[in-house]
Amino acid sequence: MTTSSQLTPVKWENNALVLLDQTKLPVETIYLTLTTAEEVWAAIRHLQVRGAPAIGMAAAYGLYLGVRNSEAATTEALIAEVNQKAEYLGSSRPTAVNLFWALDRIKARVQRDAGKDVVQLKAAVLDEALAIQKEDAEVCRTIGENLLTLLEDGMGVLTHCNPGALATAAYGTATAPFYLAKERGWDLKVFADETRPVLQGARLTAYELQQAGIDVTLICDNMAAMVMSQGKVQAVIVGTDRVAANGDVANKIGTYGVAVLAKAHGIPFYVAAPLSSIDLETATGAQIPIEERPGEEITHGLGKQVAPDDIKVYNPAFDVTPAAYITAIVTETGIFKPEEIAKSKA
Ligand code: MRU
Repeated sequence: MTTSSQLTPVKWENNALVLLDQTKLPVETIYLTLTTAEEVWAAIRHLQVRGAPAIGMAAAYGLYLGVRNSEAATTEALIAEVNQKAEYLGSSRPTAVNLFWALDRIKARVQRDAGKDVVQLKAAVLDEALAIQKEDAEVCRTIGENLLTLLEDGMGVLTHCNPGALATAAYGTATAPFYLAKERGWDLKVFADETRPVLQGARLTAYELQQAGIDVTLICDNMAAMVMSQGKVQAVIVGTDRVAANGDVANKIGTYGVAVLAKAHGIPFYVAAPLSSIDLETATGAQIPIEERPGEEITHGLGKQVAPDDIKVYNPAFDVTPAAYITAIVTETGIFKPEEIAKSKA
């Protein structure tokens, strides 16, 4: 398999979790070496690792780090510790269901392996974390292949936030067709919304696509309508943190606005979603927990004060795009109308 990007957000090396600190990009490339579940929890909470699949991968390794030195004498005691550490790691961020999916997958694995001894069970936790990361790269590539069937050489495509290689094991979800198009010699023109307030589009998407030699143009969020009205964009592709059973989609704040604009301009709006992001237990978008983040992200963006002292701030990190605005949800199992998303897992 070809490598989609030199930027690997999550690595398991020398018995430690190595994370590319995404709060420092694109100016500094700094890798953090983490050896405890507490460090992993903090790295997720503070966005040093972010993007739904990458959060899940990091938490899976964090779970192993949390139990590997356990002194549990019995399998039952170790399983109880796995469940307790999983609950702890799951409290780091609420919206991306991939976090809970990855932790649940490890909990299910230790239940399945309950007949093994404590040492073997610890090894099974690491084995499952490694499998989650390996599979994610394949999943992203397949999503990219499926999305590519909806695009044509020469198109302009707008994306929001960073659903990229930096958010996954490789390729990204919504960015996967950009990498595959590049491999095939296509000339897609990508427009990256800067993505206020934390600027994942400017700091991460623009950076990783530029590094890969993909034609990318950075715009401010409030320029998307203009770019669409000028006919520069023939498709929008975004990622997701959670898809509800009715096809409503939670993604980075601002996504809903982009979807409304796309509909107003008759531009198809696609959501790239690994099955690990699809939550059929949540009936509609209204039930998806939306993270609220510190007001300083808005009042002190990039470390500089840009708002008055003590101003009231509302800072939801995600919004929900109603299914009615979504042309299709593209998974590793195919292309689905939002209201038929349950079929993706059938
Ligand atoms: O707050 P973030 O940076 O974790 O938000 C990330 C997003 O909203 C992404 O679009 C989503 O997780 C999909 S990543 C393939």
